[in-house]
Amino acid sequence: MEPIVLNHPIVEHKLTVLRDKRTGTKEFREIAGELATLLCYEAMKDADLEEVEIETPMTKMKAKKLNEQKYAFVPVLRAGLSMVDGILKVVPNAKIGHIGMYRNEETLEPVEYYFKVPKEIENREVLVLDPMLATGGTAVDAISQLKKRGVKKIKFLSIIAAPEGLDKVQKVHPDVQIYCATVDEHLNDVGYIVPGLGDAGDRIYGTK
Ligand code: URA
Repeated sequence: MEPIVLNHPIVEHKLTVLRDKRTGTKEFREIAGELATLLCYEAMKDADLEEVEIETPMTKMKAKKLNEQKYAFVPVLRAGLSMVDGILKVVPNAKIGHIGMYRNEETLEPVEYYFKVPKEIENREVLVLDPMLATGGTAVDAISQLKKRGVKKIKFLSIIAAPEGLDKVQKVHPDVQIYCATVDEHLNDVGYIVPGLGDAGDRIYGTK
């Protein structure tokens, strides 16, 4: 599945502010949230709606409503948390899970240190959130962990994706639709996206 890239001048503008190293923590958080809102809006384009009967001040009518129980949003710790507020602007009752993972530096195997997701996760569509799709290692592992718990429909939302990460996820999980605000040039030799925006976690939490 080809990634869906948000091609829009407003997205381009917000990315410029996010990338700029002079942008401080407050604005960085706000813009990351706004881009998550736009990604979520796009990713919910095929959302299942249910028919309900309502009454407007004028008349009765049949209308469509989103069944928010059918979805779960799962940020990958820690940078993925920056996208949650933006998601809640689109789906205010969203059920949120969390995945925490790191790679064992000797075995290179993923080690899951935290996994908590909404109940009946296997019956929900899950949208995984991570602002930087870099090597794709974490994305592949997070998606695998969800599939292991029976999740059948998964989407992956990132703000900036590297071609290397896109290739990897598409190869291992061809059924997962990726949404991103942009695709950057390449990864450097320590796995950072270029031109990118630096370390998203550090910029969100001011840890550097
Ligand atoms: N994670 C980040 O925060 N930034 C990158 O460039 C790559 C991975």
